Amino acid sequence: MKILILGAGSLTGGSLIPMLLDETDAVLYTVSAKPLLPWPKKPEHLNRVVHKSLNILDKQALREYGTSVMPDVIVNLAAMTNVDQCETDKQLAWQMNVTLVENVVRIARITDAYLVHLSTDYVFDGTKGPYAETDTPQPLNYYGKSKLAGETAVTTSGVAHAIIRTIVVYGYNVGRPDFVRWVLDAFDKETPIKVATDQIANATYVDDLSEAIMIMLLERKLGLYNVGGADLVSRYDFALQIADVFKSDPLLIQGVPTSELLQTATRPLLGGLVTLKAESALRMKFRTIHSGLLSYRHELFE
Ligand SMILES: NC(=O)c1ccc[n+]([C@@H]2O[C@H](COP(=O)([O-])OP(=O)(O)OC[C@H]3O[C@@H](n4cnc5c(N)ncnc54)[C@H](OP(=O)(O)O)[C@@H]3O)[C@@H](O)[C@H]2O)c1
Repeated sequence: MKILILGAGSLTGGSLIPMLLDETDAVLYTVSAKPLLPWPKKPEHLNRVVHKSLNILDKQALREYGTSVMPDVIVNLAAMTNVDQCETDKQLAWQMNVTLVENVVRIARITDAYLVHLSTDYVFDGTKGPYAETDTPQPLNYYGKSKLAGETAVTTSGVAHAIIRTIVVYGYNVGRPDFVRWVLDAFDKETPIKVATDQIANATYVDDLSEAIMIMLLERKLGLYNVGGADLVSRYDFALQIADVFKSDPLLIQGVPTSELLQTATRPLLGGLVTLKAESALRMKFRTIHSGLLSYRHELFE
């Protein structure tokens, strides 16, 4: 099986690529603006990763490459994920989260590939989370709007696909800082940080997301699936659990309402995703934050 992975340098790619190499026989065609480090870690995997450095926004170059690979599966991890930047650079957000998806869908159609595309809980307004796959989206910010438009590009394409909505992804990754690293950096520098007490989500350990993607593509699941962690907590409570697992000073974390953070993009507050459909279809149980943080700590000090 040939799998084309777009956005290979993403947080999710850093977990998915080694997992696919370990657990499947697939040959991975990874696309990223940057060189792929530190994969593949194992010499026996070297001949199963074909890496291409490419400007993913170059429609022609992407199409030429994608159609030359003739993948069986395309996984689209590329996106503009910085929510505040999406608000200030709407044009780039649309290019990455919508136009790129339209281009990927075309490649999938030409090559008859099955597509796994990723989306977000930010398609919801956060007034009555956690949300199921059947709830009606109502995005509050441009990131959410653009990701919802990206979903529509996939669902209306006629291409065999699965869309995974996920939420507050965390996991150790050399190149891509996440919420946990931000909190750990504050502990290292002994700098107090303000963390929202009213933004509620079920944070997702990246290996759970990767495993869900892997099973999804191996079994060619179709439709929309929510993938998120087991615990619905505030960012503040998440940060306190980080302090606990990493034996750091919780007094550096100051709980504040979102209104005090003056974030550029409006945040959905009572968010979260109901994950029963994915857990039953994929025969998975998504991790608690405590369990995810123990795995993170293990990866960090490995
Ligand atoms: N992280 C979360 O908390 C979260 C939550 C909900 C949903 N999601 C969704 O899950 C998917 C994966 O998220 P992630 O956090 O793993 O992604 P990420 O680490 O933010 O990486 C996204 C990748 O997109 C590519 N990219 C971004 N901006 C670009 C630009 N201007 N030009 C070219 N390429 C660009 C880069 O790929 P290369 O590095 O390979 O060049 C980048 O690594 C996304 O669809 C995201 O919307 C994530």
